[in-house]
Order: sequence, then structure tokens, then C-alpha cells
Amino acid sequence: MILRRAAAHELGSILDFWAVAAENDNRPVDSPAAVDALHQRDPDALIVAVDGEEIVGTVIAGWDGWRCHLYRLAVAPSRRREGIGRALIDAAERRFRALGGIRADAMVLDDNADAHGAWSAGGYRRQAEWSRWVKPLRS
Ligand SMILES: CC(C)(COP(=O)(O)OP(=O)(O)OC[C@H]1O[C@@H](n2cnc3c(N)ncnc32)[C@H](O)[C@@H]1OP(=O)(O)O)[C@@H](O)C(=O)NCCC(=O)NCCS
Repeated sequence: MILRRAAAHELGSILDFWAVAAENDNRPVDSPAAVDALHQRDPDALIVAVDGEEIVGTVIAGWDGWRCHLYRLAVAPSRRREGIGRALIDAAERRFRALGGIRADAMVLDDNADAHGAWSAGGYRRQAEWSRWVKPLRS
């Protein structure tokens, strides 16, 4: 298995992968245009774990020049608890450190126990004094 930046030709496969492997509740629906825009703006942000030809994991290591945000951490259901999620988090953090980031964060649903385990194992802690305020920009 190797970890590397996603290639443009893989974006459709990554969308298919997210449909079965990622957390998909309470969030905007992914679209080809959105993932293509991410890839064009910052091609190093989308990291894939690949075993042969197969995508087995992803994470978006989003650096906006100010903060480090993690999105779309996902591992193929048949490949969980092999350390792939941990390796993806490590890869994202290496990118952030190289860019000068000082703190990484992830948005995690309160009832996603699998994710709580993975983020906790990676050293992440829930920040009880903050909550997320959101506003849709499209109706
Ligand atoms: C969360 C997720 C990415 C973890 O990926 P993974 O490859 O299985 O995680 P790892 O094997 O690297 O686990 C590393 C450590 O995290 C913890 N951990 C991972 N999954 C866990 C679970 N289901 N329950 C409790 N702890 C867990 C463990 O401490 C584990 O170490 P161990 O296996 O030696 O005990 C995976 O379960 C997943 O894709 N879930 C669906 C998508 C999702 O919810 N993503 C997170 C969105 S915020």
C-alpha cells in the first residue's frame, strides 16, 4: 500500500469510494465539480491510500494558508483496523507541518464512534468550549 496525492483521473473513483466508505450524514453531497475544484486549487490536499490499483483510503488535508482542516478520512470497510486511517492522518500532518501549520482539526459527528476511536488514537481531543456555526450558501 502506498500513500500519495490523488491523480486527476482518479477523482470519479474517489467519489464512488466515498459513497461506500466515508461518513455521509449531515453534510453537503459531494459532486464531481466540487472535488475537481479542490484538486485544481490544491492538488496535494487530496491524499489516497492505494493498494495495487485499488483505492483503500482517503483524507483531505486542507491548508487554507491559516489553519489545517481534515476532511474525508475514510477507509474501505473491508480494510479497517489495519492502520490505514492512522497512516492517512500521519501523512496529512506531515503536509501541514511542512506548510507551517500549528494545529489540525477535524469535524466529527457526535455519534460516529468509529471516528472517535481513530481521532483519539491519533492524539485529537474534542474541544468542548467551541461549537460549529453554519449557514448554507446555496438554497
Ligand atoms: C474512522 C476510520 C477512517 C478509521 O480507519 P482505520 O483504518 O480502521 O483506522 P486504523 O486501523 O488506522 O486505527 C487506528 C487506531 O484508531 C482506533 N480505532 C480505529 N477504528 C476504531 C473503532 N471502530 N473503534 C475504536 N477505536 C478505533 C484504534 O485505537 C486503532 O488502533 P488499533 O487498531 O491498534 O486498536 C474508518 O473506520 C472509516 O473509514 N470509517 C467510516 C468513515 C468515517 O467515519 N470517517 C471519519 C469521519 S470524521
